Amino acid sequence: MAQLWGGRFTKATDQIVYDFNASINFDKKLFEQDVRGSRAHVTMLASVGVITDDEKNQILAGLDGIEADVKSGALQITSEYEDVHSFVEANLIDRIGDAGKKLHTGRSRNDQVALDMKLYTREQVNSTAKALEHLLNTILGIMEENIDTIMPGFTHLQKAQPITVAHHMGAYFEMFKRDVMRLAFINSSMYTCPLGSGALAGTTYPLDRDMTAKLLGFEIPTLNSMDGVSDRDYLIEFLSALCTIQMHLSRFSEEIIIWNSNEYRFIEIDDAFSTGSSIMPQKKNPDIAELVRGKTGRVYGALMSLLTTMKGIPLAYNKDMQEDKEMSFDAMKTVQDCIILFDGMLSTIKFNKDVMAKSARNGFTNATDAADYLVNKGVPFRDAHGIIGQIVLACIDKGIAIDDMSLEELRSYSEAFDEDIFDAISMETCVNKRLTVGAPGHDVMLDEIQLCKDFMKNI
Ligand code: ARG
Repeated sequence: MAQLWGGRFTKATDQIVYDFNASINFDKKLFEQDVRGSRAHVTMLASVGVITDDEKNQILAGLDGIEADVKSGALQITSEYEDVHSFVEANLIDRIGDAGKKLHTGRSRNDQVALDMKLYTREQVNSTAKALEHLLNTILGIMEENIDTIMPGFTHLQKAQPITVAHHMGAYFEMFKRDVMRLAFINSSMYTCPLGSGALAGTTYPLDRDMTAKLLGFEIPTLNSMDGVSDRDYLIEFLSALCTIQMHLSRFSEEIIIWNSNEYRFIEIDDAFSTGSSIMPQKKNPDIAELVRGKTGRVYGALMSLLTTMKGIPLAYNKDMQEDKEMSFDAMKTVQDCIILFDGMLSTIKFNKDVMAKSARNGFTNATDAADYLVNKGVPFRDAHGIIGQIVLACIDKGIAIDDMSLEELRSYSEAFDEDIFDAISMETCVNKRLTVGAPGHDVMLDEIQLCKDFMKNI
């Protein structure tokens, strides 16, 4: 047990207390951030004259050595230390002696961990955005290839109106685009640096907090030291954004599972992204999509966990806050893994265009357009709705589509039908006449794709 605070104590911590209290097994993830923070701190301490340049140089060289040894594996971060901060400081003192004992001057583990967590979160926000950008490009590629690939659009999981694969994919493009914008906003709101807040009340040393803030890539220091050490809002915001990303992935996964099912056969997931059954030889299961959908639970759990942990904490730092890490780290990794896996699966999916087109045609997805046709011929909409309803009923009975009926048959329901009905309710017409902004029509979809491309260029 290597503790930094033994002086005031007359006996050693009970082993189970030590283990319960320790965070090294998970906060070792913050090693790089911890060293970066220490470098900035000692650089500033020397610049304001709290330590000498020689001491600063010794400490920086010591930190370089520790970092190199941890990277090479020569030095392991083990549970012999209480947390990553103790690990770095104890190793520094072992290496360079007395100068190492000055590292923690004017600093507390409270502002140290607040900084480490913020630096780590900032990096994760950026890497998540990068993964999403890749996914957006994949979606955009599918859109460009499928501007004219007709499929049924659904409401209530009932066939509704014909759309295209490009249009359906475009909906997910918008969702993940909002996610990228949310991450950019979270990133820009993390501009204050907690280092220098001390334990809670700042310090009596003449710290140059502006300098450390700049060295660490922040704009300004946090403006209240109690809030500085105990603010985890940015983490809650990131977890909330991760929950939304995961919710989007989960909805997409659900559709992929449905489309890939034996009943739908709209798509086929590539063998490389499918799994088999140990007993049923015929099976090819969409396990990756199911897992992505399933992992949503733990990501939501991380947000609920942190919100609940934070809700009863009086100012300023309390040990409860150590609980901000494990589930957050898990959620960050889970979501990035899910994005990457999902992206790979999506980019290798095969669309069964014929099956989709047939499904659209056989599902009365042109019924609205047939009613609109009658309206254009002077029939009031409510009457037209009723006439087409009767035709649909008859078609269901015969197992045919509306445009399988002869003109004669159609005219027995309404004199307003003419030869041009067949063209008016073809799937192609139904889609391509939908030209309002955001609709699936070919011409407007070209504009939408251009806007997607512009977005990708500007991120
Ligand atoms: N391991 C602690 C955490 O993660 C570091 C801060 C400890 N500070 C303290 N005064 N006990 O929150």
